[in-house]
Amino acid sequence: MIVITGATGTVGTPLVRGLLERGVPTRAISRTTARPPASPEPGIQWVTADLDDISTLVAAYADADVVFLVTPVHPRMARFARNVIEAVLRGGNRTRIVLLVAAGLDQNVQGVRFLNAHAEGLAALKASELPYTVLAPNGFFQNLLTMAGAIRAGTLAAPVGEAAISFVDARDVADVATHVLTTDGHDHATYTLTGPRSLTHAEIAEQLGAVVGSDVRYSALSPEQARDQLTAAGLDPWRVDGLIELYGFYATGHAAAVSDDIERLLGRAPRSLAEFASDHRQAFSASTHSG
Ligand SMILES: NC(=O)c1ccc[n+]([C@@H]2O[C@H](COP(=O)([O-])OP(=O)(O)OC[C@H]3O[C@@H](n4cnc5c(N)ncnc54)[C@H](OP(=O)(O)O)[C@@H]3O)[C@@H](O)[C@H]2O)c1
Repeated sequence: MIVITGATGTVGTPLVRGLLERGVPTRAISRTTARPPASPEPGIQWVTADLDDISTLVAAYADADVVFLVTPVHPRMARFARNVIEAVLRGGNRTRIVLLVAAGLDQNVQGVRFLNAHAEGLAALKASELPYTVLAPNGFFQNLLTMAGAIRAGTLAAPVGEAAISFVDARDVADVATHVLTTDGHDHATYTLTGPRSLTHAEIAEQLGAVVGSDVRYSALSPEQARDQLTAAGLDPWRVDGLIELYGFYATGHAAAVSDDIERLLGRAPRSLAEFASDHRQAFSASTHSG
């Protein structure tokens, strides 16, 4: 049995689809019973559990052969990872854990709370002595969808200066996860997952504009301007501070390296920004949202 944490999320959704296509017995975890399967999903068992409540996790994880562990961005995200590891250990099996972290943990991440929490979760996993594999993706192209309104209006704004970042498509992260969860030979491996190229935000804006056929310009924000915008958008202060820290990490060039791990694992190149933008043309295109 493969147990998928974060099964309704950006990575989890295409991952569950990938496992469904392979016909692998899968348990998908969500906090809500309200998630109605759009169509019958033979082989997928949806289970309600809360990463903040270990009493709900033991039954969900204890009989797993392999676990995909995503910790949602949250002040207790490191605790969430430890809770899942504890639930697995209570099952007493040599369950393999495929842990999703973020690229950059090989650098000093002390002041970057999201990365620091991932480093804590990874340390707990290593201490558990369970077999594990680490997936370390760079930022997702899908983050651009949260800025689609501003992009449609012609501006991509971020506090990253002129730094290049090797963003990756979350669907490729899901494809790698599908492969790693269903094949052997990945114990103690760390796979760094990036897109095919490192791009500045000015290049991203230009490519988005080319795909949708309109002018999109990059506006380099100061951290203070970004903080004001994120706060005005309704994000809580912990998340706003975390995003400013992460952007600062990006701005100093820490997320520029390109890895060939996706190509080595999947035998194909990672999706490009142009492919992502083309697949989401409607979201970024002003003409489809006018009126
Ligand atoms: N976005 C990026 O650019 C990026 C890049 C690299 C790494 N990452 C890492 O990716 C992870 C997030 O993955 P994602 O983007 O796929 O997730 P996501 O879209 O943010 O979705 C969060 C998932 O976590 C589940 N969840 C939230 N709180 C929960 C709880 N208390 N108990 C059980 N499940 C809970 C949600 O399920 P329900 O709502 O159905 O309960 C949902 O499936 C983070 O660790 C982040 O650091 C993100």
